[in-house]
Amino acid sequence: MEKVLIFDTTLRDGEQAAGGNLTIQEKLKIAKQLEKLNVDVIEAGFPISSQGEFEAVTLISQEIKWSVVCALAHANQKAIDRAWEAIKGADRPRIHVFLSTSRIHQEYQLKMTPSQILELASDMVRHARSLAEDVEFSPMDATRTDPEYLYRILEASIEAGATTVNIPDTVGYDTPGSYGRLIKNIFRSVPNIGKAVVSCHCHNDLGLAAANSLEAVLAGARQVECTVNGVGERAGNASLEEVVMAIKTRRDVFEQVETGIKTVQIYPTSRMVSELTGFAVQANKAIVGDNAFRHESGIHQDGILKKRETYEIMDPRELGIPGTTLEVGKLSGRHALKERLLELGYDLTDEEFNDFYRAFKELADKKKKITDKDIESLVAEEQRAKSGAYRLERIQVSCGDQGLATAAVKISTKDGTILSDAAIGTGPVDAAYKAINRLLDGPDNLVEFTVKSVTEGIDAIGSVLVRLESEGEIFTGRGTDTDIIVASAKAYINALNRARAKKE
Ligand code: KIV
Ligand code: ZN
Repeated sequence: MEKVLIFDTTLRDGEQAAGGNLTIQEKLKIAKQLEKLNVDVIEAGFPISSQGEFEAVTLISQEIKWSVVCALAHANQKAIDRAWEAIKGADRPRIHVFLSTSRIHQEYQLKMTPSQILELASDMVRHARSLAEDVEFSPMDATRTDPEYLYRILEASIEAGATTVNIPDTVGYDTPGSYGRLIKNIFRSVPNIGKAVVSCHCHNDLGLAAANSLEAVLAGARQVECTVNGVGERAGNASLEEVVMAIKTRRDVFEQVETGIKTVQIYPTSRMVSELTGFAVQANKAIVGDNAFRHESGIHQDGILKKRETYEIMDPRELGIPGTTLEVGKLSGRHALKERLLELGYDLTDEEFNDFYRAFKELADKKKKITDKDIESLVAEEQRAKSGAYRLERIQVSCGDQGLATAAVKISTKDGTILSDAAIGTGPVDAAYKAINRLLDGPDNLVEFTVKSVTEGIDAIGSVLVRLESEGEIFTGRGTDTDIIVASAKAYINALNRARAKKE
């Protein structure tokens, strides 16, 4: 069996998705979960892009013990030095250098000739290799690059010391047959290809990212670059769970390869990434969507009851999807709750658990049955509230079809200062957001506002997602509460906290 390395780029390419900004602590949390999932490489970020990004990659490098920690750099000495500075403390550091190679990028973006690009790629890989043992090179937009030129640049980068060469389908242009042929031709045409691992990196613009990646594996690629839930630029990247489960489920097709992924961590990781990025997983998403293992038709239900495999090709338990939704309530003890949290993938510190328990008891006073989804949203809410510079302390609204909607809010800052103000608006949410804006000087540009309930029932927790625009960037915020106005205020403050963290 040969191993296919799983290179997760949720924290780099995934975070590049519009509105996908994560705080440093959130990035660290996801990185730790990725290590639990047993991914081989964690691409932690692009250190030259901002101070926050540099700090996040540095912190992740210090905390991650087993997985390789990779930092991205464009083909520029300063960017490579900055990437190295961030990861040099890692147990297993990798520098990832990229440079566009397609004619369209050369002419319109880089304004360089093919030979200048070839020379720059060699020089920069050589420089990266003078710092790190493990260096990856990506000819960006490889699938729209003249193949003969691509072979030459791959050969030169391996000659200069690249230990992995990646073949990015940057704009999600390729199709499985053609991408597979490209990989095969690379093996045939690059004389020193045996000295490097060949990697695939597929975007999902045509909905083919996972299929293209799998074809690349069949053609000999031994590293797949992907993201949890397929998040990423535009239509996203190849989805980690789809690639991994296809390899695992179709042993007959992928008989020579395996991944090291601990599949029981797939669902908890998917939930965590969705909670922290604010990108909901569509219900019919393969592997991790809410409906992925739900059987509605009578014939299917009948089959499942007689033998699960009649209509299920994977066992949801091997993905870490809780088989039954255990309901916990007011009388559940601390021990049972701790166990449940662990089963759901949350290993809380004592302090975090105490805060969670307090919130759990409050919820249990309001709601009879508390399910896994309630537990997940409570944990996420506690963590969001703690991580930001501002926290909602109190909110009082008065509204209805008579008179003006009014909101009074009290917000605490990290140093314990209490800020309070009030405002009127067209409705309770408008009034609450105006009051918050008076205190925090928020941008008045809400581009998305969605409310949905976490579970069924009229006493359910409401989950609010907002996206707001600040200085040309989109920031996502989430908030949950049994009162949707409170959830709305929390979501708004969460987005403002992210915008502020990014600026700082
Ligand atoms: O899609 C792409 O080309 C990339 C590179 C930086 C590898 O993300
Ligand atoms: Zn990409």
